Amino acid sequence: MDDTHETDSEQTALWNGPAGRAWVDAQEVLDRLYAPLQDLLVEAVAATSSLVVLDVGCGTGSATLAVARTLGATGRCVGIDISEPMIALARTRAAQDRTPAEFIRADAQVHAFEPDSFDLMISRFGVMFFSDPVQAFSNLERAALPGAHMRFITWRSAADNPFMTTAERAAAPLLPNLPSRRPDGPGQFAFANRDRVHSILHESGWTDIDIQPLDVALTLPETDLVRYVTRLGPVGLILQEADDRTRALVFDTMRPAFDPYVDGADVRFTAACWMLGARAGSARSR
Ligand SMILES: C[S@@+](CC[C@H](N)C(=O)[O-])C[C@H]1O[C@@H](n2cnc3c(N)ncnc32)[C@H](O)[C@@H]1O
Repeated sequence: MDDTHETDSEQTALWNGPAGRAWVDAQEVLDRLYAPLQDLLVEAVAATSSLVVLDVGCGTGSATLAVARTLGATGRCVGIDISEPMIALARTRAAQDRTPAEFIRADAQVHAFEPDSFDLMISRFGVMFFSDPVQAFSNLERAALPGAHMRFITWRSAADNPFMTTAERAAAPLLPNLPSRRPDGPGQFAFANRDRVHSILHESGWTDIDIQPLDVALTLPETDLVRYVTRLGPVGLILQEADDRTRALVFDTMRPAFDPYVDGADVRFTAACWMLGARAGSARSR
């Protein structure tokens, strides 16, 4: 099922354009890197008696597929994402693996979900891009069964995640048009402020809100670093448009800034995240 009703043309363009392309190109690198976070979500599914699970902002589908495999024939896992190329890859992977995961290409902020249809919602970094987070989280709450749980992983602040901004700090002198990060705007660090996230969830009708810091050690083979920093993040998006010579020059300039993270053949850093937990409220009449 696909739905073309969307709210934020900037994010829609980004995820259907350069950001979506980057995540498709680097899918294997990203899935290896973020596997420990996915494992936490799969454990959350296994620890509940959840049968129908929604993966919000599922991207190329790694967590959706892992959960569908965990549930087996007894449950369903549905992934929703606004990005056509990422959902296309997710569907291809499901067909190749013969995993019965379902995918919806739609904007989760406004998609007309069947009310009361999920008993667990999960996300790995897929819920920080809504133009109106209260509208989005209210829409998700209506789609959840009363009492249903959420387990959403989001980034804490840029200051807590210095690895993530290393490239832009190092490349800034060469890339004067590098866009600056917008605190609280849709984007990677939009959920950095715990109080803001709490009030978004509260206003959207979620209850038993529990926002815990989650620090996870991640590892990237050093050989994947060039692929990672020249495709992803603000620098990567700009370099997608650059010629090979410029891309190599910018990478060589940035590379020493990553030295503190290099440990032999690996790059190691800590992902400073929040684990958002909450339950769908019972305040509204259903
Ligand atoms: C950082 S990626 C994470 C992808 C995936 N969860 C993973 O961990 O591989 C963020 C995802 O959120 C999706 N997204 C952004 N805004 C969305 C929206 N309004 N509705 C549904 N998906 C959205 C993007 O297309 C992208 O796939």
